[in-house]
Amino acid sequence: MTDDIDPKGFARGLTNYGDKDFSLYLRRSFAKSMGYSDEMLDRPIVGIVNTASGYNNCHRGVPELVDAVKRGVLATGGLPIDFPTISLGEVFLNPTSLMFRNLMAMDTEEMIRAQPMDAVVLVGGCDKTVPAQLMGAASADLPTIQLIVGPMMTGRHEGERLGACTDCRRFWADFRAGRVTEQKIAQIEGNLATTLGTCAVMGTASTMACIAETLGMTLPGTAAIPAVHADRLRAAEASGKQALETARAGLIPSKLITEQSVENALRVLLALGGSTNGILHLTAIAGRAGQRGIAISLERLNELSDTTPVLVNLKPTGVGYMEDFHAAGGMGTLLRELAPVLHLDCLSVTGETLGERLKSAPGYLDRAIIRSRAEPFEAVGGLVALFGNLAPGGAILKRSAADPTLFEHTGRAVVFTSLEDLADRIDSDDLDVKADDILVLQNAGPKSPAGMPEAGYIPIPKKLAQAGVKDMVRISDCRMSGTAFGTIVLHVTPEAAVGGAIGLVQNGDEISLSISNKSLILNVDDAELEKRRQSAVSQRAQPTRGYAKLYADHVTQADQGADFDFLMASS
Ligand code: FES
Repeated sequence: MTDDIDPKGFARGLTNYGDKDFSLYLRRSFAKSMGYSDEMLDRPIVGIVNTASGYNNCHRGVPELVDAVKRGVLATGGLPIDFPTISLGEVFLNPTSLMFRNLMAMDTEEMIRAQPMDAVVLVGGCDKTVPAQLMGAASADLPTIQLIVGPMMTGRHEGERLGACTDCRRFWADFRAGRVTEQKIAQIEGNLATTLGTCAVMGTASTMACIAETLGMTLPGTAAIPAVHADRLRAAEASGKQALETARAGLIPSKLITEQSVENALRVLLALGGSTNGILHLTAIAGRAGQRGIAISLERLNELSDTTPVLVNLKPTGVGYMEDFHAAGGMGTLLRELAPVLHLDCLSVTGETLGERLKSAPGYLDRAIIRSRAEPFEAVGGLVALFGNLAPGGAILKRSAADPTLFEHTGRAVVFTSLEDLADRIDSDDLDVKADDILVLQNAGPKSPAGMPEAGYIPIPKKLAQAGVKDMVRISDCRMSGTAFGTIVLHVTPEAAVGGAIGLVQNGDEISLSISNKSLILNVDDAELEKRRQSAVSQRAQPTRGYAKLYADHVTQADQGADFDFLMASS
């Protein structure tokens, strides 16, 4: 029985007791203690990654989704078995959820490998979850379907529609500037996130859901279905039904995540006006794919960005919410608009090519939310990579969410050496800062103790905010939330903690940002920079144990996706 060339179900990956038949006999015996019949024990298994957690509000609906996936699996003759992995509730993690993305990816990969299953359905959605799951699945390379938990619905406050979390930031900025009272901000707090599901705008979670669908890793048309919509449960059931078909067709992630589908995903990221985190996560996912990984070049990102208009009118770039995107036609409509510049022979988990999918008749579409390529929301893509002596390895700016009057800007640097320094001084009356200065935050990159948090949305200094200043050029080696907006340069590579030039900037230095030249220049000569480098004192406190040490020792720079060096396929 254990000599089968292709063991399935419980016969896969036996526990090693030195006697295979004993191992299977013992496994079936213990499985029977859970009440399974012989008929069930002989079935192929679909593992279901269950990421429900009391610390993850976005995943409140996961248990119901897992039940629906199970229905689908049972209907096709499989045995569904759910299992937990760690769950990353974005706002409940210290110091930042990104630090645990790689841990979740390892957990996901190893549990897919270690436990007997013929296919797997990943259930996830909150921010770092889909990247972590796809990274793990790409490395495990077992037939996989990603099921997205779906976005939240909007709430209402005094007649205004609110959605996490672009509106969170807008109201908080108004509160800091004294335009919103304490009483009103307390009322708003209760109306920003009102249902289960992920953030309601085109933030990182929504961006990654759309990227997962573009990579072919979800069922077509499922990325944007609201979390509370009954169609979300039907998508879960259909994912369960599809899982064994995907396995029988041999559609493993390395056949779906290819150079072509990654390029399609970059086009979609740009057309969405998607999150800056999208480029970091897609780089990490692509780096896991196949035998050697797929490298994403930021120069190529710029080429694609100059030829991919922003077509989607969602916050923080535009005005709508994910529920509007779904109602407007969702990913099918967007992909149809982009079809002339996409690789149409890419496959999805259904075995259908993108071109075949897009042959079906287009449904209803709402041009207020998804524009045509002839009449785009923005003529060029949402993200742009910047290079120069301040960022030799590149930096990212979301031009679609920035103030065009700051696109060509030279200003005086106002430097904060750490997150603590920023918190201490940003609202000080003594801070020497003017509206046309450039705020620089150092020591917040991947290898810093801060672990590359979403702190790049540096608040406008209170005295300037109160004077009506809404945007300034801000530069850091950390990230910002996909729901944030402003002329904010992020992911500066190399970071300060590994000796990058951003760590050498001093108060009063002149910095030039040019979107047209895609450049970020520190106007200080090389000799002076070298002098500063020689006298620089490392601010990096080295963790000495546990996951923090593993992270600090092995995390790569932002241009490599901040994955662990030993987990990338090229390693
Ligand atoms: Fe979960 Fe925003 S907090 S997606």
